[in-house]
Amino acid sequence: MSEREAKFPALLAELRPHCERLIAQYERKRSALLPIVHLFQEREGYVSHEAMRAVAAMLDLTPAEVESTVSFYTLFFRRPIGKYLIQVCRGLSCSINGAPEVMARCRERLGVGHLGTTADGLFSYEEVECLAACDRATCAQVNLEFVYDLTPAAVDAMLDDLRAGTATVRPLVQTDPPGAIWSIRQDEQVATGTKALGSRGVTNPNNAGGVGDAAGLIMLDRIVNKTVSFHEATRERAVRDSRAVRDVVEEEEAQAHAGH
Ligand code: FES
Repeated sequence: MSEREAKFPALLAELRPHCERLIAQYERKRSALLPIVHLFQEREGYVSHEAMRAVAAMLDLTPAEVESTVSFYTLFFRRPIGKYLIQVCRGLSCSINGAPEVMARCRERLGVGHLGTTADGLFSYEEVECLAACDRATCAQVNLEFVYDLTPAAVDAMLDDLRAGTATVRPLVQTDPPGAIWSIRQDEQVATGTKALGSRGVTNPNNAGGVGDAAGLIMLDRIVNKTVSFHEATRERAVRDSRAVRDVVEEEEAQAHAGH
């Protein structure tokens, strides 16, 4: 039994009154699921099996129901994670504005790839979709706090500060040592073939993510080299994605043609 497992009954006893207050706020017990899971993650650093079982018992749910909810949200971790989770945006604005160099520097400095954790358990790393701060590309989040205008040199400074403990970002709680891959989702995606390791290998440009996807690279290349405009790229995806949208586009084209 690990130290965390041994301490779990005491943690549960401590959190139970908070959980009961949360449950009392809702008409249905199960509505308190997300805030209660957050409570456990804050204290254990991730959502352990013990926590999922305890939450299920409190809310009259099955552990599978709790796990299916926890697994849906990317902000819940089902495995121990590094003290600093670095999430670099690989969306299109960031990709055009230096994200490939920033991601390369992160991978090189950390010595891990997408969804990896450093051997000392300090950093976990992830390449994510648009963080909705496109005007400050390239951006990232460290433990959900934004970092803007990143360059490879800024990555060096950021990692040095985090490692030295001089950054303002608070470390995440760590009650179990993390493994080399912190995301169960990643293993599931690789096992089912829906994504290759590091998200590379998806080859449909009409399903492009960012530069982490082969598809994103193809689409980015076509836009940067002006073989296709943003408007055309969007329209091309829309036309291929949906018959309904295609009908609308074709109708608009026919109208525009008739107007000339
Ligand atoms: S593309 Fe990076 S924040 Fe939007």
